Amino acid sequence: MTAQQKFRDSIELIKSFKTSGTITPSSPRLIRRLLGSIEFESANCIVELGPGNGCVTKALLAKMSPGSTLISFELNTDFVNELVLIGDSRLHVVNACASSIREVLDELGIEQVDHIVSSLPLALIDDDVVKTILHSAKSNLREGGRFLQYQYSLKNYGDVKPMFSDVTLRFTLRNMPPAFVYDCVK
Ligand SMILES: C[S@@+](CC[C@H](N)C(=O)[O-])C[C@H]1O[C@@H](n2cnc3c(N)ncnc32)[C@H](O)[C@@H]1O
Repeated sequence: MTAQQKFRDSIELIKSFKTSGTITPSSPRLIRRLLGSIEFESANCIVELGPGNGCVTKALLAKMSPGSTLISFELNTDFVNELVLIGDSRLHVVNACASSIREVLDELGIEQVDHIVSSLPLALIDDDVVKTILHSAKSNLREGGRFLQYQYSLKNYGDVKPMFSDVTLRFTLRNMPPAFVYDCVK
């Protein structure tokens, strides 16, 4: 990514701060922490929530196998237009709320997904919507699948922890701002 692209993405994040919750894309270190526990060889379908400028999307595509599917839900149409330009046949960019996973999976004829990776700013989203998104994420995950979420605080840890059989917390200082990763197994 060029410096000009990074600058443009940061401007878009600042403009949409209320829904993005950040002013800079995630660092490579945070992305490695977020995706580190995924077994990509056996993952046929991954859902991504809140891809923004696509830094996590591209890291996922770099690791996913040729016949797999990545479905990325993004509300911001400027980011959606940018994501479509990635031009990878495995990637389905959906301009819809993260709460509509089931409807989109039905359209694509997919019953359950292997993993869900979320960059959603849960702390800024209404509690009711967070609950709907988390329940939808869990119910569409296969048994043993992972829900991976990063956050800049532990605000929603109490919502996530009781929903999954195993939850591991990781932390990295090497991000602006420093971030926690919730690694949740269904
Ligand atoms: C923090 S940015 C993440 C950008 C990128 N994935 C990263 O890690 O740098 C969060 C993104 O979530 C999107 N978003 C917020 N609420 C959403 C929702 N309910 N459904 C889908 N996307 C949402 C925002 O538009 C924003 O692009």
